[in-house]
Amino acid sequence: MNSRRNFVKKTAIAGAGLSFLPNVSFGSVLGGSQDKLKLAFIGVGLRGTNHLNNALHRKDIEVAAICDVDPERIKIALKKIDDAGFSKPKVFGDSDYDYRNLLELKEVDAVIISTPWLWHTRMAVDSMKAGKFTGVEVSAANTLEECWDLVNTHEETGSHLMILENVNYRRDVLAVLNMVKQNVFGETIHFRCGYQHDLRGVFFNDGKTAYGKGVEFGDKGISESKWRTKHNLLRNADVYPTHGVGPIAAMCDINRGNRFLSLTSHATKSRGLHKYIVDNGGENHPNAKLNFKIGDVITSTIETSNGETIIVTHDCSLPRPYSLGFRVQGVEGLWEVDGNRIYVEGKSKPHQWDAADEWLKKYDHPLWQKYGELATGAGHGGMDFFVMNAFVESAKENIAPPMDAYDAAAWSAITPLSELSIENNGEPQDFPDFTRGNWIKRKPYNWIKDTY
Ligand SMILES: NC(=O)c1ccc[n+]([C@@H]2O[C@H](COP(=O)([O-])OP(=O)(O)OC[C@H]3O[C@@H](n4cnc5c(N)ncnc54)[C@H](O)[C@@H]3O)[C@@H](O)[C@H]2O)c1
Repeated sequence: MNSRRNFVKKTAIAGAGLSFLPNVSFGSVLGGSQDKLKLAFIGVGLRGTNHLNNALHRKDIEVAAICDVDPERIKIALKKIDDAGFSKPKVFGDSDYDYRNLLELKEVDAVIISTPWLWHTRMAVDSMKAGKFTGVEVSAANTLEECWDLVNTHEETGSHLMILENVNYRRDVLAVLNMVKQNVFGETIHFRCGYQHDLRGVFFNDGKTAYGKGVEFGDKGISESKWRTKHNLLRNADVYPTHGVGPIAAMCDINRGNRFLSLTSHATKSRGLHKYIVDNGGENHPNAKLNFKIGDVITSTIETSNGETIIVTHDCSLPRPYSLGFRVQGVEGLWEVDGNRIYVEGKSKPHQWDAADEWLKKYDHPLWQKYGELATGAGHGGMDFFVMNAFVESAKENIAPPMDAYDAAAWSAITPLSELSIENNGEPQDFPDFTRGNWIKRKPYNWIKDTY
């Protein structure tokens, strides 16, 4: 930690000189300090490689180590690192727990975990215990015990945890957050959000192509079908809540003056995944005999201590175009992402929607105003770039990130709580107060700035 503190002192000064020059790559505009943040990546599958790509566009990091149990993924990552002109990192992945050897490296400052869900908490806990600034992909935890493990370890070690929720940095989401913070919609009342994404082509494949062919999963599948589909087989729960609820939690200051109180959940019958297998693999395919536990559409209603409700939907097993279904509603107006429309009393024509575009442009977030053209134009993924930027900048200063251990716990808790509620015919389930009362005095995070 000592060397970290020196590092922090030196880079805080360098970071203050961060400037924006149009038409230059991120690599030359961001960072530039002589002391670089030494990053390690655990899991360099599809998502981890995406994070790696974004990191390799920066001048203020080094890739000190990578870990993956799949040698093919290591090969791809090493080539990317070499092509980008970075030094060769140390490599781990001989066994499932080889990541612990990576965590012993003194030189590693910060760790990004992009592994299957069941590894997230145990790896994040080990990483915080090793004193690393830790970033974990979504969701962060699978059970309430794991949610507490994240919070307890953060408090015991003082190591920070960031849940890497990229949708919080989506351009329209940040513009609406800006509108909420500037009180355009008035006091907030009601929100809707969710993960509504036809993932049937991700849940099943032919073991060779990651997307859209075949009906295999588990050992016979590749990429996410290898591990994710089994959650659908065995759990009737909202297994992926954070893309929807993360942005809403930022808008209503969850864990900072407000908190999730309780939740009720309901699940429809399960038809979509079985139908997909029969349609694409035939009714005699062995997977056609399986009973998937997860309901096709899962609807949870959360109540907050400030008197708002949030409807969260999980809808990944049926044919449908993608939408996170956002609605943000206050006493003076609302935004609905479906239909791309906004209504503000006294500003919009009475009872008529405005197209959202003009409003979103007017309230474009400072980060997107500053780096947006470059982010999208340079093909660096926009919101993915910004989440990496927030991680690196917070790690450089070793300060609590915008989305911290308490957020990781509260957002991820929706999975086990929805499961319990569904099992008990929609019975309300109380959220644990992961802040142990501190939500009352924690100040809202300042999201409206142009640094990260
Ligand atoms: N935020 C987003 O938009 C977004 C998008 C995609 C995926 N994700 C999340 O990212 C995570 C990873 O997803 P993915 O699509 O990259 O999956 P993936 O299956 O492509 O990658 C996971 C990688 O982890 C490796 N791995 C598994 N066990 C390991 C271990 N013990 N030690 C080291 N490596 C191990 C696998 O070999 C694989 O390469 C998931 O949590 C997923 O939900 C988030």
